[in-house]
Amino acid sequence: MRIVSIGGGPAGLYFGLLMKLRHPEHAVAVVERNKPYDTFGWGVVFSDAMMEAMQAADPASAAEIADAFNHWDDIELIFKGRRQRATGHGFIGIGRKHLLNILQRRCEELGVELVFEREVESDLEFPDADLIIAADGINSRIRARYEDAFKPDMIVRPNRYIWLGANKLFDAFTFDFQRTEHGWFQAHVYKFDQSTSTFIVETAEETFEAHRLGALDQDASIAFCEKVFADTLDGAKLMTNARHLRGSVWLNFSRLVCGAWSHFNGRSHVVLMGDAAHTAHFAIGSGTKLALDDAIELANQFDRIGHGRETVGEALAAYEEVRRVDVARIQNAARNAMEWFEVVGRRYADTLEPEQFFYSMLTRSQRISHENLRLRDPVWLEGYERWFARRAGASEIDNNRPPPPMLTPFRARGVTLRNRIMVSPMAMYSAEDGLINDFHLAHLGARAMGGASLVFAEMTCVSPDARITPGCLGLWNDAQALGWKRLVDLIHSVGFAKAGCQLGHAGRKGATRVAWEGADQPLDEGAWPLISASALRYLPQSQTPRAMMRADMTQVRDDFVAATRRAAEAGVDWLELHCAHGYLLSSFLSPLTNRREDEYGGTHENRARYPLEVFAAMRAVWPKDRPMSVRLSCHDWTQGGNTPDDALIFARMFREAGADLIDCSSGQVSKEERPVYGRLFQTPFADQIRNEGAVATIAVGAISEADHANSIVAAGRADLCAIARPHLADPAWTLHEAAKIGANILPWPKQYASARGQYESNLARAASAAR
Ligand SMILES: Cc1cc2nc3c(=O)[nH]c(=O)nc-3n(C[C@H](O)[C@H](O)[C@H](O)COP(=O)(O)OP(=O)(O)OC[C@H]3O[C@@H](n4cnc5c(N)ncnc54)[C@H](O)[C@@H]3O)c2cc1C
Ligand SMILES: Cc1cc2nc3c(=O)[nH]c(=O)nc-3n(C[C@H](O)[C@H](O)[C@H](O)COP(=O)(O)O)c2cc1C
Repeated sequence: MRIVSIGGGPAGLYFGLLMKLRHPEHAVAVVERNKPYDTFGWGVVFSDAMMEAMQAADPASAAEIADAFNHWDDIELIFKGRRQRATGHGFIGIGRKHLLNILQRRCEELGVELVFEREVESDLEFPDADLIIAADGINSRIRARYEDAFKPDMIVRPNRYIWLGANKLFDAFTFDFQRTEHGWFQAHVYKFDQSTSTFIVETAEETFEAHRLGALDQDASIAFCEKVFADTLDGAKLMTNARHLRGSVWLNFSRLVCGAWSHFNGRSHVVLMGDAAHTAHFAIGSGTKLALDDAIELANQFDRIGHGRETVGEALAAYEEVRRVDVARIQNAARNAMEWFEVVGRRYADTLEPEQFFYSMLTRSQRISHENLRLRDPVWLEGYERWFARRAGASEIDNNRPPPPMLTPFRARGVTLRNRIMVSPMAMYSAEDGLINDFHLAHLGARAMGGASLVFAEMTCVSPDARITPGCLGLWNDAQALGWKRLVDLIHSVGFAKAGCQLGHAGRKGATRVAWEGADQPLDEGAWPLISASALRYLPQSQTPRAMMRADMTQVRDDFVAATRRAAEAGVDWLELHCAHGYLLSSFLSPLTNRREDEYGGTHENRARYPLEVFAAMRAVWPKDRPMSVRLSCHDWTQGGNTPDDALIFARMFREAGADLIDCSSGQVSKEERPVYGRLFQTPFADQIRNEGAVATIAVGAISEADHANSIVAAGRADLCAIARPHLADPAWTLHEAAKIGANILPWPKQYASARGQYESNLARAASAAR
């Protein structure tokens, strides 16, 4: 085959040499516009794992690269005048120039034709090529030429960065955060040869603008950075190697995804590789890794399918299929890490203490969890756990084994929860006339013995017409209040859990069948009239609600107040107002369901007016020493609906009105919703509201193991974790999850004590068998 690579970066060179190595009869050329030793950039980092893949692909170049590497394990954070360090992170750094020179030499050795200083205008300059690799970087001309085929989707990110070098060696991957009068700057610093380190300086757009950095030339930009990071540089100089660039050298990162990676131009197959096909932010340092992995995979596909002209198309399709999955995974992790650096100034840097800030930074990509940190650096992690437990007010901290973050106490007003796990409210549709019965006692009693510190019953309705289904619980009469007292006494008597009651009104989603007879489907008979913010039905077949009049509002508010009084008298410890999931109060908050033109519709303030009125009236009669939370749908997941930024505005309003926590759920407001599910998918909302809204939060949604809860709580992304479906599967979820991580510090019910030893030793046996 005749193979031409347009672009002699890591992707083009490495693919060229791998193909020549595997099939010396291929004619391979790499065409590069720069001179051989002329390249931009300083050092690149990749992981130990990458080296193993290169070792398998070409031991000769891998050996040379390994020799040239600087290896280090530590990450250091410089923040608020302190240095903190953790180990076990295994990075390798090499100068980009050095890496390319090794690859260039290896290409020459194997007989790859290297053509330098040739600017390629079009792939049609190589009419005899069977395969053209478009490895021409992020601004790929070849990709632009076939834009219709490749369908590139490029998003320019808001932060600004400048890629510099420093003539100083840093012996750890160093992150340095410095505050100026206009905001935070962060430097990502890593060594790559005997005397030089890469020094990338990054800041938010508003800070960049406030300092007018766009007007500075390179020298002035460097002088500015030297001043900001003077303490860390300690006299060392920053350097640029982008002298050929004019004007500002501050860049925005562009995230690129392509709809297709290959195209037949009529003569040759053209395929995208490396940055031309996809980009990943330097926050997890993997652009070069992706480029090299692409090269390895395509070469492997030729090995598998055959190195012939006739099967090029097949090999390219297989390459794309395999690489897409890995690239998406890395882009995902890179996006999390990148977003962390985008919001760090306004969300974490002024809020979190240095210890927690470091933990948050280390877990920024969400690929490194709590237990993963323990594997990397157990001493550091235990030190952090001890610090966290002390902050949380844990009474006995065993110096050998501090409690994991999810098992530390949490205090809100006069209520101290023993740990951070709560049983999330879940409708059971099993009541008659809104009354608690044997099922509820058995169901919630079992969960009260399961280790969670707060047990919520399902949404409890404030009037018969407030119910979702005829099977919902209510708290509008004395008989129901008696049932609640019995439930609360039961929860208190069997263990240490506190009792939570979520009050709600179904609004336009009321008068429907119980879940197993068709969730959200209207009742065939016995339906009651519905009310909502506006007269909009939920489903085409749903009853159309009446838009609430002022008299309705007063009535419903008073129903909430009466139910609040009954809950207080029944001894409920914790009250939650349900303002989520498209029910009545949520229908006011979302612009999708609130089309009112009076003072209850339109702006955020207007949309929140009625829910806040209800909340304030409840707060006024709810005992001062007992907490109240508010559940919000933080994302409507559809065009024109509320977003997390809107939820933040509402959260601040509820905080001002006296809410102690915001319970951060999402969706169920509109049938048009397209939620993006996944592990911990709603936790970012709790994180944003907690750290930008200055109010405690509850994270909920797809939190399914102790490791998740520990990571969330330890990083300060939420204060409590609400666990719903896992609690249906396992009433003793908390006890079991604690045992799985060897944190056997929660008391089991004394009646069950004999099961505990067996359970723990079975776990230990399974763990050692798996080793
Ligand atoms: C600030 C910053 C820090 C980074 N840090 C890291 C890191 O730590 N680790 C990491 O792995 N990655 C890092 N990267 C990313 C990394 O540099 C790229 O992802 C990687 O170089 C991609 O390799 P490539 O071969 O696809 O493209 P490139 O390295 O961009 O190579 C493309 C080549 O094509 C040539 N070319 C372009 N157009 C033409 C043309 N028309 N004719 C001829 N030649 C042409 C260019 O001159 C260039 O040499 C970083 C990037 C930035 C911006
Ligand atoms: C059967 C069931 C009933 C639910 N009922 C309620 C409810 O009454 N009130 C509420 O706010 N959320 C309710 N939810 C949502 C849960 O509280 C929780 O937010 C959701 O299930 C996501 O958490 P998970 O991934 O841990 O299940 C219900 C969920 C389930 C599975």
